[in-house]
Amino acid sequence: MTTKMLTADNAGINEAALLLKTGEVVAIPTETVYGLAANALDEAAVSKIFIAKGRPQDNPLIVHISDIGMLDELCTDIPDIAYKVAEHFWPGPLTLVLKKKSIIPSVTSGGLDTVGIRMPADITAREIISKADIPLAAPSANLSGSPSPTSANRVFADMEGRIPAIVDGGESGVGVESTVIAFEGDTIRILRPGFVCKEDLLDIAENVVIDDGVLKMLDADAVVRSPGMKYKHYSPSADIFIIDSDEKAFENYINKIDEENVCAVIFGNENINTNKSVIKMGTESVEMAHNLFEILRKIDDEKFKKAYFRCPSRDGVGLAVYNRLLRAAAFRLIRL
Ligand code: TXA
Ligand code: MG
Repeated sequence: MTTKMLTADNAGINEAALLLKTGEVVAIPTETVYGLAANALDEAAVSKIFIAKGRPQDNPLIVHISDIGMLDELCTDIPDIAYKVAEHFWPGPLTLVLKKKSIIPSVTSGGLDTVGIRMPADITAREIISKADIPLAAPSANLSGSPSPTSANRVFADMEGRIPAIVDGGESGVGVESTVIAFEGDTIRILRPGFVCKEDLLDIAENVVIDDGVLKMLDADAVVRSPGMKYKHYSPSADIFIIDSDEKAFENYINKIDEENVCAVIFGNENINTNKSVIKMGTESVEMAHNLFEILRKIDDEKFKKAYFRCPSRDGVGLAVYNRLLRAAAFRLIRL
């Protein structure tokens, strides 16, 4: 199959919507990362996503809507707090896990009786959904296990020959996937941190807790509230390490490594004295989130064997950066 690159104009949006209506898979831009979209209500179409990505069948997909009214068509027993959160943060990078109606096939929800729903802020994404007039299941548009793509070219690198079309909407602004939350009475549980952070959610809810799976490697027998958290994730071929230390100790550590093809990834406002290759990941957490997945892919482009990252802050959006980096590093966190 040839993979066509479509522009995010009327013609491109119409072509993408038509393909989606006929049960095809199309990669679409969103404000977080690119998504691999198909009709969420069509089992055969959704199965094509799992094949294109090589994704485990028990990892549920997020369903994307263009209008808050679609929520009641897809979900049931929606608590008041969920409506409040949706009205406040949608359209935007936040996914709500809710009880699904039977209209959503089991393949979409990975066999669960809940489903993640999100209304993306990206205008092209919403136009495609409303033109196709169907909710779209869309995981990140990478091969399973690889870093999520934040540009159409990165989608092409993973999906060429596997899907009929990609809509090129430019670089994703946010750069990390949506915050995924579930509701437990009056408490909001963050299953996957993202751009909408705990501090933001506390404007709406009194209690916000961060699930254990966000910061820890879950034991094989642990209760997994978000199945995506148990898989190896976001990994380039290079081995990633996180060094939790001050700048000077990081510099000393890097300079003691006697190996070729090693790089150091540091903050934008720092300079270290080293003959190793240096990549800057940005100064503020928001900038680091924007750059992270592209840096992980560049590390492979440059054929580095190992990459040592300065440990990001865990505050605000920093928690999302730290959570993705921990998984990219297979939890190799070195405290100096
Ligand atoms: O920003 C995003 O969320 C992107 C764009 C394309 O919208 N999508 C995305 O999808 O990141 P994906 O499939 O790569 O990640 C979905 C995450 C997984 O960790 C999955 O386990 C979790 O959401 N999830 C989905 N449905 C769930 C459910 N019913 N219960 C718990 N976790 C769920
Ligand atoms: Mg993903």
